[in-house]
Amino acid sequence: MKDNTKLIAAGRPHARYAHPVNPPVERASTILFPTYDDFLEGSRTINYGRLGTSTHRALEDVVTVLEGGFETRLAPSGLAACNASILAFVGAGDHVLMTDAAYDPTRKFCEKFLKRFGVETTFYDPMIDRDGLATLMRPETKVVFAESPGSLTFEVQDIPAMADTAHAGGAVLIADNTWAAGYFAKPIALGADVSIQAATKYLGGHADCLVGTITSADEATAKKIYMALLQLGSNVSADDAYLILRGARTLSTRLERHQENALALAKWLSKRSEVERVIHPAIKGCPGYAIWKRDFTGASGLFSAVLKPVPLPTLKAFFNALKLVGIGFSWGGYESLAVHVRPERYRTASAWADEGPVIRFHAGLEDIDDIKADIDNGFAAMAQT
Ligand SMILES: Cc1ncc(COP(=O)(O)O)c(C=O)c1O
Repeated sequence: MKDNTKLIAAGRPHARYAHPVNPPVERASTILFPTYDDFLEGSRTINYGRLGTSTHRALEDVVTVLEGGFETRLAPSGLAACNASILAFVGAGDHVLMTDAAYDPTRKFCEKFLKRFGVETTFYDPMIDRDGLATLMRPETKVVFAESPGSLTFEVQDIPAMADTAHAGGAVLIADNTWAAGYFAKPIALGADVSIQAATKYLGGHADCLVGTITSADEATAKKIYMALLQLGSNVSADDAYLILRGARTLSTRLERHQENALALAKWLSKRSEVERVIHPAIKGCPGYAIWKRDFTGASGLFSAVLKPVPLPTLKAFFNALKLVGIGFSWGGYESLAVHVRPERYRTASAWADEGPVIRFHAGLEDIDDIKADIDNGFAAMAQT
């Protein structure tokens, strides 16, 4: 061989020896097949990098067993997972029922993008009952989309009743299960056809990459999801799949601590004079609390507090005084966060009655006393305005 050929042919993967604990990052576009028969093998095999390598398959397998589904596929972000899942089931003339408490970009995808392609969306009150949902179903309804609890306002939804209603009308129920991280709730066992996670949040757990997971309940559903991702040209980097898989190994330990800190913080906030009410699925008074008790085995670190009405400069003083708790979007990483959310701005099916600002907190893994002290400083700064 000449040098220019040697540079190509040498240094290829070694025959497997004793294997490492973690599946390594396997980056690839082209996959080489040992024989023509291998080349002809079916779609689940690893045959082209865009469809994933052994790194992606390892993560998918973990999420499949966690969610209790038939198969999991990855998407480039949580939002891409939501959107691809809806696209897998709808076409021009179809209708989607979307929770009014949905993550705002999921909502915008329906309002703007799907509309351009002739798919109509009706937003429904997240606390709608079985009969109410049934009256919104149309012959052309193909997807009922749940986000339980809503990731800004935390209404817990009745997934079994919603699944019955969707199925009776010939639609699928897709559930965004990001808050429970596949650990504290199993929507597929409750009747959902598809369970989605923004693995960006708890599965990854370190606020450093974006991935979505789509778990299907059965083979026919999985095939539709796979075809949608394939036709959209969806791809996840092997490095990101590796990071999420690494995070997943410590999910349960981290979630227990997020749960403990969030409950302690929510209870402390509920006693503060600055706070009108807290909205935490595991605390009585949260819409759907009884459903949470029935269907969930725990609570993660994200919840909201409604403050008593204050002028904007006072609210700014609160945020600007925070040193430990970050001001930022997203959640599910190891750090505490606070963000001002405005449900009154986007809800259309269920008016938002509170007048005071809503602050969404993510309780991180820090010591709870330090988190409380930082928020206490924020309240002190408010008092000085
Ligand atoms: C409930 C929920 N679903 C989906 C997403 C989208 O995830 P990503 O940021 O990975 O696109 C988010 C992001 O905040 C979310 O909160």
